[in-house]
Amino acid sequence: MIKFYVLTLFEDMFTSFVNTSIIKRAIENQYVSVKTIDIRKFTNDKHNRVDFPPYGGGNGMIMSCIPLSNAIDYVVENYITSKRYKIIYMSPRGKVLNYNISKEFVTLADEYIIICGHYEGIDERVIEEYNMMEISIGDYVLTGGELASEVLMDSIIRLIPGVLTEGSLIEESHTNSLLEYPQYTKPYEFRGRKVPEILLSGNHKKISEYRKEEAIKITKKYRPDLYNAFKKENKN
Ligand code: ADE
Repeated sequence: MIKFYVLTLFEDMFTSFVNTSIIKRAIENQYVSVKTIDIRKFTNDKHNRVDFPPYGGGNGMIMSCIPLSNAIDYVVENYITSKRYKIIYMSPRGKVLNYNISKEFVTLADEYIIICGHYEGIDERVIEEYNMMEISIGDYVLTGGELASEVLMDSIIRLIPGVLTEGSLIEESHTNSLLEYPQYTKPYEFRGRKVPEILLSGNHKKISEYRKEEAIKITKKYRPDLYNAFKKENKN
């Protein structure tokens, strides 16, 4: 079971995440737990402020070390039970998430403390103090780390053995550096477009070959970078 402790100022943003579909079921079946912790409860400031203007001037507000470090220490002392835990800071400057990183995270640790920043970021010293791993979900800037943390957790949780039905991971996009082949279901004909005949043939070998060809075509068209990597891997 992987345990996530998410430090955030906006716990509400996680309500639907933990109460919907596959993630909900994974929690019920104890493949994973997700606990949110409100950073604001850990201020020493009499007005409960968590953010202050940057030293040296500049725009926006910076989240202070104090509530963050208090919250992290609290989680470590009261919840963390394993030596195998990591602290992750969701940040646009972090290592960009991909399939392989998500897969690594399934086994890298038993427990994760995930920090969601807001405003212009968090004080650099708290990142250093806790030797945080920094993860970005892409080259754009969000208003906070909450959605990014959900993306990260979702991409990890679905890879925990048992969470999805067996087999559904084997042929999906990115597992073999190709994108997924096109899929079809009922009805057989939609606005004059019929399902490719081969898929109705019952010939599993032919179907499998056809799908591989389509996957290659699609990868070449949509992601030439992945296609070139695939070509290199399969040279001999
Ligand atoms: N916080 C703000 N932008 C982000 C991004 N792109 N990835 C992760 N965390 C973020």
